[in-house]
Amino acid sequence: MKKKVLLMGASGSGKTSMRSLIFSNNPASLTARLGATIDVEQNHVRFLGDLILNLWDCGGQDAFMDSYLTTQRSTIFQHVGVLIYVFDVEVNDMKKDLEYYRDCIEGLRQFSPEAAIFLLVHKMDLSRDRAVSFDRKSKELRTASQNVDVNIFATSIYDESLYKAWSSIVHTLIPNAAVLSRHLAIFARACSATEVILFERTTFLVIATSSPTPPSSQGTASPRPEQLDPNDIHQLESTRYERTSELIKAFKYSCSRLREEFQSLELELPDFTAVLDEMTKNAYVMVIVHDPTIETAAIKLNIKMARRKFE
Ligand code: GTP
Repeated sequence: MKKKVLLMGASGSGKTSMRSLIFSNNPASLTARLGATIDVEQNHVRFLGDLILNLWDCGGQDAFMDSYLTTQRSTIFQHVGVLIYVFDVEVNDMKKDLEYYRDCIEGLRQFSPEAAIFLLVHKMDLSRDRAVSFDRKSKELRTASQNVDVNIFATSIYDESLYKAWSSIVHTLIPNAAVLSRHLAIFARACSATEVILFERTTFLVIATSSPTPPSSQGTASPRPEQLDPNDIHQLESTRYERTSELIKAFKYSCSRLREEFQSLELELPDFTAVLDEMTKNAYVMVIVHDPTIETAAIKLNIKMARRKFE
C-alpha cells in the first residue's frame, strides 16, 4: 500500500533539511550544505508491514511552483495522502507564499479532496518569542485556508518539535493505528509496564503507543510544552515521545560514526526501567516500567515472545 506525501513550501523554507534529518539520519548541522531542490525529488520509505511512504520533496523556487500548478498539476496533486506545507517563521511578507499555498489547496481539492493537510511554521529556533509568532502565523494560515481543515505545528530542526509534527503526520497514514494501540495496551499490561511505545525503525517516528491518546491529538499550539499531567501517577512528560525520537536518532548517528550498528538499549534508573528493542523488521518497541520488582530480563523475554504477534 503506497501513500503519497507532498512536501511543499517556498525555496529555503527547510523542506529538504527536515527530510534529511527524519529519513536519512543526518544531523541538523549538515543541512546548511544542502543545495536547492531541482523539480521534485522522490523517496520511498517502507513503514510497518506493507505501508510505503512515497515522499515528494517539491523544490520551492517560483519556476518550479508555477510548473506544479499548471503543466504538472494533475501529476503532482493526484493520489495525495498528505500535503505538508512549510512556512519560514522569519518571513514577514507572506503574500506570495500564501498565494501559492491557496493554489495548492485548490489543486488538492480538485484531485485529492480526501488528503490531510499539515502546515509547519518552521525555523522556530530563530523566533525570539515562539508563542507569539506561532500564534500570529497560525491565525494568518487559518484565514488563508478558509474552510479547509488544517493541522498546524511549530517546528525546528534543532529540537524535538520536528518529530512531534512528523509522528502526527505518519499517524494519519497508518490504517491500523487504533488496533496497534490496543495490542500495545494488552502487551503493556502483560509486562506490568507504565507505557509501551512503538517506533518506526529508520525514522524513529512514533507509530503507536499503549496510552489511549495518540501522539497526534496532543495539541499543536505550544512549541515546547514542558507541563506534566497532574492526573498521571508517574508524572510522564507530554513531550516524552518526540524527545525520545530525537535522542535515539542522535545516538544512532553517533553509533554510525563509530561504525557500530545500534541494536538495543536498556536503562535502569532509580525511578524506572526502560528497554528499547527490535519488535518487527520495521519497528522498535520501548517498554517503560516503574515497578522495581520487574526484572529487565523479564521485559526482554516478553518482547521476544510478543514478536511473532506483532510481525
Ligand atoms: P528548496 O529546495 O529550494 O525548495 O529549499 P528547501 O525548502 O528544501 O530548503 P533547505 O532544506 O535546503 O534549507 C534551507 C536552509 O534553511 C538551510 O541552510 C538549512 O540549514 C536551514 N534550515 C532548515 N531548517 C531550519 C531550522 O529549523 N532552523 C534554522 N535556523 N535553519 C533551518
